[in-house]
Amino acid sequence: MAYIPDAGRYTNMQYNRCGNSGLLLPAVSLGLWHNFGSVDVFENGRAIVRRAFDKGITHFDLANNYGPEPGSAEENFGSILRKDFTGNLRDELIISTKAGYLMWPGPYGEWGSRKYLISSLNQSLKRMGLEYVDIFYSHRPDPNTPLEETMMALDTAVKQGKALYAGLSNYQADEAKRAIEILNQLGTPCLIHQPKYSMFERWVEGGLLDVLEQYGVGCIPFSPLAQGLLTNRYLKGIPEGSRASKAHGFLKSHEITEDKLDKIISLNEIAKQRGQSLAQMALSWLLKDKRITTVLIGASSVQQLDDNLAALDNLSYTGDELNAIEEVLKG
Ligand SMILES: NC(=O)c1ccc[n+]([C@@H]2O[C@H](COP(=O)([O-])OP(=O)(O)OC[C@H]3O[C@@H](n4cnc5c(N)ncnc54)[C@H](OP(=O)(O)O)[C@@H]3O)[C@@H](O)[C@H]2O)c1
Repeated sequence: MAYIPDAGRYTNMQYNRCGNSGLLLPAVSLGLWHNFGSVDVFENGRAIVRRAFDKGITHFDLANNYGPEPGSAEENFGSILRKDFTGNLRDELIISTKAGYLMWPGPYGEWGSRKYLISSLNQSLKRMGLEYVDIFYSHRPDPNTPLEETMMALDTAVKQGKALYAGLSNYQADEAKRAIEILNQLGTPCLIHQPKYSMFERWVEGGLLDVLEQYGVGCIPFSPLAQGLLTNRYLKGIPEGSRASKAHGFLKSHEITEDKLDKIISLNEIAKQRGQSLAQMALSWLLKDKRITTVLIGASSVQQLDDNLAALDNLSYTGDELNAIEEVLKG
């Protein structure tokens, strides 16, 4: 059946300005790291993407290596675009991709050289069938390549029109600051930083968020649900089909410790008192900070996506609620 996007798709989503840029991003964005590869059910992924767009999610995040097989998430997303997002709908989408992790063998298939970044972007564009991506990221800092070279590659991508904006991912505060300054000098300001950030992973609070605020760079936390831990998914063990149950899943069962489970159970109680699911609370807890532009979720079903989107119904916290959450997280 031909896809006709919901005419009301822009009425309920909140759009936040990304740093000091002209770009607005939806408060919730969708990532295609898991559930969109060649090992997954294509029609399920397609339904999730359609539903996301119907609900006002305009931003879809990819990387060269998403799959498995590496590259297959971009291929599948390209296929969804060709089937469902025809005409001018491309202009309503913000599509990102990245290069940094291992993608092909040999000395030019990973890290941060100009050779790798530009070649990888060309491959990503081909896989998705796109003329340009909206955001191109350096996926991780490379200790053995001059930062200037990596940033010049991002600048080139933008100046060639293959990307509209440049982004950083997994850069620590001091590295991010240097990278942002180099990009500014090159005339391609850094749009956004993509760090891992959730109730369970809070390193960004130790300086990175301040740097981003200071330089007017947006922030898009990835794995805001700690890969599903900060939901009801693992309250009663490891269900079949869950990320932790899959051999290729990046969440390993040994990461679901007794201590984490105790915290998840206590957080779940606080969420209930707020009238939210734990997933909704985990997302709204991030979005209450104005430095956070959008949370980058994953979903393996349309139901999960809907659950997560309802986080936007309650983004405010009382001091008591915040204290109770801190107590659990510290405990
Ligand atoms: N820059 C980087 O280095 C980097 C690294 C990792 C990720 N990312 C980006 O961040 C995106 C999101 O990462 P993520 O998938 O780890 O995010 P996440 O939102 O923390 O976890 C998503 C997973 O949690 C479970 N889930 C989601 N909503 C749920 C709900 N309402 N109830 C129960 N379970 C729920 C699902 O797992 P099940 O499969 O078990 O159902 C889902 O696949 C990625 O797709 C990617 O775009 C970037």
